[in-house]
Amino acid sequence: MFDIPSIALASMIISSVVFITRWFTHPLKSIPTAGRFRFRGLSYLDALYNTFYAKISMEAGLDKYYGSAFKLAMLDGWMVIVSGPGMIDDLRRRPTHELSISDGLLEYMHFDRYLSHASLYDAPHLQAVKMNMTVRKIKTMIPVLVDELRHVMDDIFPKCSSGWEEVQIFTTMQCVITRMSNRIFVGIPMCRNKEYIELATEFPPKSVKRGFLLGLCPHLLKRHVARWLNPFPLAVKQTLPLFSEIIEDRRSRTMERYDTWEKKPDDVLQWLIENASEKKHSDADIVESLFLLNLAATHNTASSLTQAIYHLTERPELISLLRDEIHPIIATEGWTAESFDKMEKLDSFLAECQRYDGVGMTSMIRKAMKDITLEDGTIVPEGALVHAAAYAVHHNEASYPCATKFDALRFLRLRTQADALGTKYQLTSASPDYMPFGYGRHACPGRFFAAIQIKLVLAFMILGFDLCFGGDGTRPENVDLGFNILSDPRGLMLFRQRPD
Ligand code: HEM
Repeated sequence: MFDIPSIALASMIISSVVFITRWFTHPLKSIPTAGRFRFRGLSYLDALYNTFYAKISMEAGLDKYYGSAFKLAMLDGWMVIVSGPGMIDDLRRRPTHELSISDGLLEYMHFDRYLSHASLYDAPHLQAVKMNMTVRKIKTMIPVLVDELRHVMDDIFPKCSSGWEEVQIFTTMQCVITRMSNRIFVGIPMCRNKEYIELATEFPPKSVKRGFLLGLCPHLLKRHVARWLNPFPLAVKQTLPLFSEIIEDRRSRTMERYDTWEKKPDDVLQWLIENASEKKHSDADIVESLFLLNLAATHNTASSLTQAIYHLTERPELISLLRDEIHPIIATEGWTAESFDKMEKLDSFLAECQRYDGVGMTSMIRKAMKDITLEDGTIVPEGALVHAAAYAVHHNEASYPCATKFDALRFLRLRTQADALGTKYQLTSASPDYMPFGYGRHACPGRFFAAIQIKLVLAFMILGFDLCFGGDGTRPENVDLGFNILSDPRGLMLFRQRPD
């Protein structure tokens, strides 16, 4: 009765009706789109383009919709971008039941499908950072961090004593930062355990790559593919045997002599073990928290450090400027928190590095937990991901004159002019004009730890080595991937030890 052409025609008509109906009733329809191909289906072409050129589309969107909201197609869905001080402040003020950071970050990285109940609902990794990475505690960590830095440099860095030696800088910095961070996370001996450190070092780049691949999957397939791409179970399975004895030993000592255990380890692992007993989390949950911590802590820090080294090498006059500041302070006062407080040029240079390219084009990623109306009347539907346009904020001429120019002492001048403004214009500041670490009550809780590690390593390099670009002698280009700005992971640098 029905011939094949009629069935094909009927199917085409039904699909078109479904497609058009869905397009016109799409919950994000009322938010304008920045991009060339505005129609659903064709927007995948924009998404493909935005994977590598999101900055260009973002600039086009900001030209038209600055101070309001627009959406950008990415391969893993639409992203709502807000800009302008009013809208950014609106994001900051929203309570978690309206805009959630943890749901936003997990969904953005596709980890919402990966994690245990403990990590998703109690977030011990986040509590651990808030409890253990306070400014006061970080001051006491500096001698320990310096000790670990010397150890890891001895272990993995070429001596460079008889001439220039070539180093792949990002992978080396990822190793250095992973070792230093884990000295504080798990202490000795585990921070020097080869198997654990290898797993912890390769985990963040692996997770980012797998998250990116998952983003390419259609929604219907994601849950199934996630089972194969999820990096957590394997990492936990491989790491658990390395930690089970230590966890058991520490747990029983904690229970037996909580008040009298004089040499109780003062690291994040100990905090996680005590918290796990209270919350009834398993050993696997503890190890999963360690991997979440490594993911949050090491990749951004190593990438920022690499960017800073590239900026410095590009401008040799800055190396002398910073050496002249750092050398007399360290020579008279040693490696202390107070010494680093005095290195104002170093702080300004690093704040400029974060402003100039940083690690992301957006910040303050949030998921709408229900339909909300932003202050300009934009309706953001439940489930949408909202980002603040950080790159635009950081390149706004009104806040940063000659914003396209790299100006290492810009923040020091701003700080001197605004003398009374306390901690404003510092590397770890968080404000509507400066948001590499986010802004508001959810601003990165690990930023003070990241800042001291970057300063330590950079000061160590500047005092100990001459440096220049390896490879073809030019600065390795940044790689834009989605909204991420990655320092070229293959970039080569040459180092030569300086005479004492
Ligand atoms: C240069 C290095 C780093 C950069 C650029 C960075 C950046 C950020 C940003 C932009 C956010 C989101 C803030 C917001 O949405 O308002 C964030 C959150 C977070 N960061 Fe960092 N971060 C860095 C290093 C670290 C380190 C070293 C740790 C841990 C020791 C850490 C732990 C976290 C955690 C746990 C969150 C989630 C906060 C929450 O859910 O409330 N980060 N970070």
